[in-house]
Amino acid sequence: MTVRAAGQAAGPGDTEAGAGSTGGPGDHRDESAATGGDVFAAALAARPGGHWLDHSDGRCDPLPVHRWQGPAEPALADVVARCAGPALDVGCGPGRLTLALSRAGHAAVGVDVSARAVRLTRARGAVAVHQDVFTPLPAEGRWAHVLLMDGNIGIGGDPVALLARCRQLVHARGTVVVELEPPGPGLWRGYAQVGSRSPDGELRRSGAFRWARLDTVAVHVAAGASGLRVRETFAAGRRWFAELAAG
Ligand SMILES: C[S@@+](CC[C@H](N)C(=O)[O-])C[C@H]1O[C@@H](n2cnc3c(N)ncnc32)[C@H](O)[C@@H]1O
Repeated sequence: MTVRAAGQAAGPGDTEAGAGSTGGPGDHRDESAATGGDVFAAALAARPGGHWLDHSDGRCDPLPVHRWQGPAEPALADVVARCAGPALDVGCGPGRLTLALSRAGHAAVGVDVSARAVRLTRARGAVAVHQDVFTPLPAEGRWAHVLLMDGNIGIGGDPVALLARCRQLVHARGTVVVELEPPGPGLWRGYAQVGSRSPDGELRRSGAFRWARLDTVAVHVAAGASGLRVRETFAAGRRWFAELAAG
């Protein structure tokens, strides 16, 4: 069941860098990856070297692949503490949060479009399904929480469509816990590419795929447009989050 809102207009303060945008990570746009091709594969392999995300507005963020491969960091304890029932970790990567949720006693399932991510999550002893979040998933409408960490609000390049999809996944009293940008930059939508450099200097780039960023202010508009409301925004360490309620 797909609820993509591809033609959605950007809101006030948005920077819309859609199909006609130029500059940034080049013109090779992999539309098959727009909704979740395995574009993070090189970073998930955690090969030695550097991994980063190039955005089409020129921003470049290092990808914290060692964090993804390690145990859940302290900031995630605040996220786990908010969970009081079955939780779906969307874009779970190697599954450190899925595992932390299970260890906290919750039924937790990771979802990832990358076969490698699913294998790594299962190897840790957590449960994961190899699916695109926009395709049918187990227990739709019955999850107590859906989690979007580590920039995963960018998945699909349209936060309203992604949050609306998450709204479908939770039950009427469920929540969506989402990691956000600190207040200021608003909503940005455009393209991104995963870049990797091996220790011997070889540079690799994924195809370009749709991506987005959302801050703690713009989340109010995006949540409202997707049938959710912001229950609370909170910071943990230097990271920012919001809990969005369905009811
Ligand atoms: C920025 S990384 C986040 C890593 C992760 N949260 C972790 O703890 O390792 C984005 C993750 O989302 C996955 N992903 C991207 N598009 C997806 C989609 N449409 N459905 C499900 N997972 C997706 C990627 O394969 C990748 O593992």
